[in-house]
This record gives sequence, C-alpha cells and structure tokens, in this order.
Amino acid sequence: MAPPAAMEETAPTINLLSNINDGNNAASQISRVTVVGSGNWGSVAAKLIASNTLKLASFHDEVRMWVFEETLPTGQKLTEVINQTNENVKYLPGIKLGKNVVADPDLDNAVRDAKMLVFVTPHQFMDGICKRLVGKLKEDVVAISLIKGMEVKMEGPHMISTLISEQLRVNCCVLMGANIANEIAVEKFSEATVGYRENREVAEKWVRLFSTPYFVVTPVQDVEGVELCGTLKNVVALAAGFVDGLEMGNNTKAAIMRIGLREMRAFSKLLFSSVKDSTFFESCGVADLITTCLGGRNRRVAEAFAKNGGKRSFDELEAEMLQGQKLQGVSTAREVYEVLRHRGWLELFPLFATVHEISAGRLPPSAIVEYSEHKPNCSLV
Ligand SMILES: NC(=O)c1ccc[n+]([C@@H]2O[C@H](COP(=O)([O-])OP(=O)(O)OC[C@H]3O[C@@H](n4cnc5c(N)ncnc54)[C@H](O)[C@@H]3O)[C@@H](O)[C@H]2O)c1
Repeated sequence: MAPPAAMEETAPTINLLSNINDGNNAASQISRVTVVGSGNWGSVAAKLIASNTLKLASFHDEVRMWVFEETLPTGQKLTEVINQTNENVKYLPGIKLGKNVVADPDLDNAVRDAKMLVFVTPHQFMDGICKRLVGKLKEDVVAISLIKGMEVKMEGPHMISTLISEQLRVNCCVLMGANIANEIAVEKFSEATVGYRENREVAEKWVRLFSTPYFVVTPVQDVEGVELCGTLKNVVALAAGFVDGLEMGNNTKAAIMRIGLREMRAFSKLLFSSVKDSTFFESCGVADLITTCLGGRNRRVAEAFAKNGGKRSFDELEAEMLQGQKLQGVSTAREVYEVLRHRGWLELFPLFATVHEISAGRLPPSAIVEYSEHKPNCSLV
C-alpha cells in the first residue's frame, strides 16, 4: 500500500523511503543504536530499526538490544536463545529480528557506545533504569521514548520523556501511534508520530531510523501532546473493554471513545498549554485510540474483568492472560486519578475517574455508563 500524502504542517523534508545512502559517510558521524527493552514492542522496534541500519550509511549496522534477563522453562537464558535463533521466543515468537540485532543482558555494556538510545520498557521500570544509566552515556547521546505511561510525584505528573531527559541530560523525543506490535511485526501498513521539542534535525534522524514503506512516521513539534495521547488512550481502552465485556454494543463503545478523546485532549491541555489540537488527529491521537479500543491488550483484559463482574483482579488476569507482558492502563488510570484528585478536577473527568474506581474495585463495571450526574464542565473539557 502506498503511504498517504503527508499533511502540510508535518511533512518530512527528505525522501524517507528510498534513502539507501543518506549521504553521511564520515565514520565519526555514524550512530550506533541501542534499544533499551525487549518485550513485544521493544522486539518489533529493534526489527524495524535493524532493517534500516543495514541500508542507511549514517547508522552502524549492529543494533544492540538490552534484555531484562530471564530463564526460560527450558532452562536457557533468553538472551542466549535470541542470539542463537535471532528470535525473541518469549515476547515475539516466530519473527526473525534481523541478524544485526544483538541481545545483551548487561545494561551498561549495551549503552556504552550508543549515540541513539531507544527506550521501550513498561513505564514502571524506567526510573530504576535511568538511575542505573546516570554517568554511563556517551556525550551527545540522543534518546527517544516509545513508552506509554507516566509517573506521578508530589509536585505533579512527570512524563517519561521528561524523566529521561532530566535524569540523563539528553534530548528525548517520543514515538507513539496506532501500533499494535504484532501487526507491525508481520509488516502490515501503519503510521506513527514522532514528537519533538525544538530540534527538527534530530527528529528527522529518528524518522529516518524508523521509517519503512509499511511504517510511515511523521514528526510533530509537540512532545507532551504526542506522549499524553499514547499514555491516556490506555485508560479509554479499559473503558472500551468494560463495554465489550458487558456486551453493550458498538454505539456505546463509540460514545465511550468520543468522551475519552475529549477527556484526553482536555487533560493534556490543562497540564501543558503548549499541547496542540492538531496532534489529536495524528496517528498518536485518534488512530491509536481506535486501534487500542478495538484490539489492544488493555481492552482484552478489561473485557475479561467485566465478564467476571469485577471479581477477579486485574493483577490475576494480567498474569493469566499476558504471560509476562504488562498492562499499562490500570496503573495509568490510577496515576491520572491521583492527578485529578490532587488538583480538584475529578468531576471534570468522569470517564477517567470512573475507569479507576472500577479497576480498583470500588464501582461495578456497569458504572462505566452511569456517571452522567457528574456532568463535565464544558468550558474546560
Ligand atoms: N506491545 C505493543 O503493542 C505496544 C505498542 C506500542 C507501545 N507499547 C509500549 O511499549 C512499552 C514496552 O512494552 P512491550 O510491549 O515492549 O513490553 P511487554 O509488556 O511485551 O514485556 C514486558 C517487558 O518488561 C521486561 N521486564 C520485566 N521485569 C522488568 C524489570 N524489573 N526491569 C526491566 N524490564 C523488565 C520484560 O523482560 C519484557 O521485556 C510499554 O510502555 C507499552 O505501553 C507497546
């Protein structure tokens, strides 16, 4: 399928798809890439990147992938199996990553020579990972976060890209989009959005690293907007899963998605006045919301939760249904709830608040459509 014409505001300035030699041959300019994380999306990201580093002269062929080491039921180490079979047999079975992907269980070693760091772990591990990396990076390293989620501290919410750029003192972009990893693994066409702060040149380098004919990446100057879209849509996906579990039908699900998108935009803009409305029309916005509410793991586990009348906890269902993969929506719903409570905004965001109340077991799943008495303040939301 041919990629659609990019929108005027966000059009990349270079030909991204036929750039076999990108004209930057100086050895000192060649960037080594390390992917920090090796779950389902981390493995697919490494595969995408590795196909491009072989083609583009400005990147070193080898892609290191830091693996949180695990012992498989066979007794073998996961990294050893990845390096022998070229497959992440636990998190992405059946897909070859590319011979130039090297799994490394040693975090310090994996990042030592990297100039470009791709962070893609479940968000709860990032604080610890950043602490371990302080002082270990090369100068002029740039980073990108593919992580959906945020940290909530006393002083307020902290985006993961901010955590990375503050702790490691690096420029950190974000990449988010309608990207269910297993579909991209088999090279089905999709799009993604790179959010950047000021440095367009760095953003375009990330776009080059990730773009393929089946994965079309568009840069937008709105880190917080892109990252909040990717983070908050998991909360809406839980609501969509409750609706599915209760067999409420498509109209209800569409209504939940619309209300959810409105709350996503309002919450993002209240937190960061710089967030742009146009970001919600990019892949990271409405497209990611749709795919996650139709097919993602948050929706699937929330459906099971509602089918069980809320009697089996999310922790139990996650362990049973996801085999080591992590659910982000439940912790994000709790973190969002903390922000809303702390700032006195609970009644402005009835969908977000209700999703947390249900997943914490304080309301039944059917409450997902029973909050209309708390009408949102339309001037804000
Ligand atoms: N899977 C998708 O379709 C998808 C798509 C887009 C974005 N994302 C986002 O990408 C991020 C990573 O998700 P994923 O799907 O690659 O992971 P995953 O849920 O498939 O796998 C969990 C990963 O966490 C690792 N892990 C477990 N304990 C750890 C620890 N203590 N420290 C560090 N790592 C540990 C595991 O080894 C494994 O690699 C998440 O923020 C997710 O929201 C996922």
